[in-house]
Amino acid sequence: MVDIKKVAVLGSGVMGSGIAAHMANAGIPVVLLDIVKPGEKNRNALTEGGVEKQLGAKPSGFVHKNKAKLVTCGNLEDNLGLLKECDWIVEAVLEKLEVKQEVYRKVDAARKPGSIVSSNTSTLPIHELVKGLPPAFAKDFMITHFFNPPRFMRLLEVVKGEQTRPDAFEAISRFADVTLGKGIVECKDTPGFIANRIGVYWLMLALLEAIRMGVTPEQADAVMGRPVGIPKTGVFGLFDLIGIDLMPLIAREMLHTLPESDSFRTLYTEPELVKKMIADGYTGRKGKGGFYRIHRVECFSCRFFKQCRYGFALFFQFCSKPIGTVLLFVAQTVDQLKWPVFPVIAHAHRFIDAGNTIGNFRHERGGVRQRSR
Ligand SMILES: NC(=O)c1ccc[n+]([C@@H]2O[C@H](COP(=O)([O-])OP(=O)(O)OC[C@H]3O[C@@H](n4cnc5c(N)ncnc54)[C@H](O)[C@@H]3O)[C@@H](O)[C@H]2O)c1
Repeated sequence: MVDIKKVAVLGSGVMGSGIAAHMANAGIPVVLLDIVKPGEKNRNALTEGGVEKQLGAKPSGFVHKNKAKLVTCGNLEDNLGLLKECDWIVEAVLEKLEVKQEVYRKVDAARKPGSIVSSNTSTLPIHELVKGLPPAFAKDFMITHFFNPPRFMRLLEVVKGEQTRPDAFEAISRFADVTLGKGIVECKDTPGFIANRIGVYWLMLALLEAIRMGVTPEQADAVMGRPVGIPKTGVFGLFDLIGIDLMPLIAREMLHTLPESDSFRTLYTEPELVKKMIADGYTGRKGKGGFYRIHRVECFSCRFFKQCRYGFALFFQFCSKPIGTVLLFVAQTVDQLKWPVFPVIAHAHRFIDAGNTIGNFRHERGGVRQRSR
């Protein structure tokens, strides 16, 4: 059975960077590769940016910032040679068949024989992913569908193809269970597997109904979140988290592969609002914003407390040594442990600017209107 000692993750977007961080959390060295960003001097800008985003995410994709040292950033042009050292290569690039297959051709030429390759695809069937690739590649290939955010979502859907080696499938399932702490669900090679077959249906239904009824994202999410036992993001917040640009890609692929009688076919239309948001770069948290914009605001008193904490402690050293010593100890401990004590003391506001939804647009009865500023 393949022993997984080193992993490569291809694509450093929302999922790729999150998967790389989670591998590092488990103490596994990771090679993270992505395309070279056009017009960018730093050829690893995308992967380095992906690691930065995971470090800066709240909560972070890394259990500790030191884990980021296990991630080696590179690009798919200069660093394919690094794949030779990897036992498992996870592909998490754009949800487009031709893009993924192009990446597989490069990977197959560079990987070591017997290494396992898997796709994080949400919907693409395994038999289409390996079409036209060498039989040896198809034998080493499977789907590992992580959920967002990879550090926190326990579910991992795994799919084997007709040609997948049973020992490779077993090795990854075991590794994901024991080392990554995932709950493995084996799925058939059907459109959207299990979670997206159900999840994409209800997400799209909720979005289209909210637009039709003129319900705002805040209203819809107030109901379709915790009150009905789903994550607090609700529907629109979940679109922002997933990436609004990904949803049409997933939906189109499902339309391509679902049976003629499937009710998703009668349900789905691509709302003009969503098209416009994607065109304008409002792709959710990874873009300029989405249905919500998250503002992290630190008020004056918060900044004041933060900047003056050692000053206060030293001042009290002169007035009352015991109090000063305690304050110094508290300030140092807070710094070490990164406790959010000062923001709490100073009423730092971290809120979702729900009033300014959907970039420059908002839902109104009768359609989407330009927001008056
Ligand atoms: N976003 C989610 O919540 C989620 C959840 C589960 C699975 N997925 C799946 O994970 C995969 C990645 O999705 P994502 O949300 O991270 O997307 P993303 O848009 O955040 O990232 C896509 C990555 O693909 C790279 N890329 C673009 N063109 C490329 C090319 N020609 N060759 C190689 N790389 C290229 C981009 O640079 C980017 O890093 C998709 O298959 C998606 O279906 C996404």
